[in-house]
Amino acid sequence: MRIHALAPQLVNQIAAGEVVERPASVLKELLENCFDAGASHIRIEIERGGAGLIKIRDNGRGIEKDDLALALARHATSKINSLQDLEQVLTLGFRGEALPSISSVSRFSLISRVADSDCAWRVQADGTEEDLEPQPDPHPLGTTVEVRDLFYNTPARRKFLKNDKTEFVHIDTLFKRMALSRFDIGFELINNQREVFQFKPALTEPEQQQRIAKIFGAEFLDNAVSVDFSASGMSLSGWVGLPTFSRSQQDQQYFYVNGRLIKDRLVTHAIKQAYHDVLFHGRHSVYVLYLELDPSYVDVNAHPQKLEVRFREGRSVHDFLFKALHRSLADVRPTPSIIENKATETSPAVVEFTPLVAASDASISREKIYPSRVIPAQQSPLPFNVEAPIQTYTQGVSSNKGHQIQEAPAIIEPPELSAKTPPLGYAVAHLHDVYILSETEQGVILVDAHAAHERITYERFKREYHAGAVPSQPLLLPIQVPVSGAQAELADDEQAFFMDLGFELNRMGEELIVVRSVPVLLSGINVAELVRDILADIIQQGMSARVLEKSNEILAGIACHGSVRANRYLTIPEMNALLRDMEKTERSGQCNHGRPTWVELSKKELDALFLRGQ
Ligand SMILES: Nc1ncnc2c1ncn2[C@@H]1O[C@H](COP(=O)(O)OP(=O)(O)OP(=O)(O)O)[C@@H](O)[C@H]1O
Ligand SMILES: [Mg+2]
Repeated sequence: MRIHALAPQLVNQIAAGEVVERPASVLKELLENCFDAGASHIRIEIERGGAGLIKIRDNGRGIEKDDLALALARHATSKINSLQDLEQVLTLGFRGEALPSISSVSRFSLISRVADSDCAWRVQADGTEEDLEPQPDPHPLGTTVEVRDLFYNTPARRKFLKNDKTEFVHIDTLFKRMALSRFDIGFELINNQREVFQFKPALTEPEQQQRIAKIFGAEFLDNAVSVDFSASGMSLSGWVGLPTFSRSQQDQQYFYVNGRLIKDRLVTHAIKQAYHDVLFHGRHSVYVLYLELDPSYVDVNAHPQKLEVRFREGRSVHDFLFKALHRSLADVRPTPSIIENKATETSPAVVEFTPLVAASDASISREKIYPSRVIPAQQSPLPFNVEAPIQTYTQGVSSNKGHQIQEAPAIIEPPELSAKTPPLGYAVAHLHDVYILSETEQGVILVDAHAAHERITYERFKREYHAGAVPSQPLLLPIQVPVSGAQAELADDEQAFFMDLGFELNRMGEELIVVRSVPVLLSGINVAELVRDILADIIQQGMSARVLEKSNEILAGIACHGSVRANRYLTIPEMNALLRDMEKTERSGQCNHGRPTWVELSKKELDALFLRGQ
């Protein structure tokens, strides 16, 4: 066969292979055109999963009668003129490929009317790019595109379509993603004549939150922090789910660059890093994030379906995202500023625990501090060291441990009359020797003491370690610890590493080591048990040259072993000390394993439980 040019319809059908994968990708292209046309309202009708019909009407600026044929010709666009334009594209479209591709694989019609025309004009096309004669039509200002019988003339591709229901799931997902990219536009989605979504333009924040709630479910915003961060010419806004509000799938991760929905490895990586060590293993974060930056720093011409972009300064975008999110997530602790944002809006009928408390500024009266329960006389010393050695918290009670506390109020730093009630309130009791019950201005909270202490110890330990100095405290009497041969060897080989962690370990024999110092942070703990646990952990994780990279995991392990165990009774002052430390500690809303450290039951929720005021 000799070389010859392909017929335009075939060229378009080949191009369609890249642009039009399934009905949802047709909808994406058509929606982008509506956005680019400045529409403020868009109505979408779908039949048979989009394989039967995709019809989309907008009230945008429309297409001139004489341009209708061009709109359906390949490589014809109103959006860019030059290579320079391409380098800073502000519109979603720029290739002039979508309509010719779609029209070559469907029964296609386009109706449009511009502002100063007295009627609309309609063209039908099949991708042959032959001269089309527009017919008048009574359509109002704006454009309607009708795509029927997708892939009717490319049977091989039609076979790849899934059943109508599955195709509609893709459409539904795409629709939600697009609807969240433009709050200023109203949307209607109709499937087989039934309304699925109706969104009015959402210009105020409450309206935007309503749209989010309809798409993500109401619980998302109750379990999310809003992000608003700008630096070096970039800004990031939106919402990220708390680490405790994670999912087993990545299906609720929405990211937009200058209004364009994208998937990007660099972005995903930066976000993952920010969630590192607060997310439960194997879980995925939930987010809706909007990145804005100078369009000339983004190459949008990097993917056939425009789903990926290239950043000119990838590294700085990565750092920016990481920093913004890391900060936002680190701020997830019970400080009043978060709490004000999260003012308890849960309706009284719905009783659910939310991990954020609400507090008000009323100061707590001294009578509210309850006398503590009597401690058994022979209680072992505390494996516990919060922000300061535990003695600081118990000073004024008695200088020796194992005493009886009769009255707690005297030893709690008395709240100043002008001071505000701390967000986590004041401890009332230690329940089942696991949970701290605390009364706050807004209700009550329950704290998992071990989980909370673990996070506090970990954060502090991490700070000290990365600052190059974990303060170490020599033991009065070195402690001999029988261990396994492998553990003894590890302690011997990695002496320097353990020194950095604040442990001085020497090998004494085949299966014996001696511990001479431990981190100050962990003093008071059962040393033999701790050291054995740590050695066992490290052996299990595999000690290698990469151990430093894993140091956070090791630190987390040590913090876990070194933190308050369940079944250890805490005194009121100890509990209050822990609560105050939680308020000061970053990421204290979840333990090192990503489990929540505390939950709240507001007064409203308590009232609802007892049907009070109903
Ligand atoms: N809904 C619409 N309202 C107004 N004009 C439209 C609409 N849809 C398409 N057009 C016009 O038709 C042209 C061709 O649309 P098409 O989607 O094929 O290409 P594009 O949007 O320019 O680029 P891309 O292929 O990247 O989408 C557009 O440039 C635009 O001028
Ligand atoms: Mg387009």
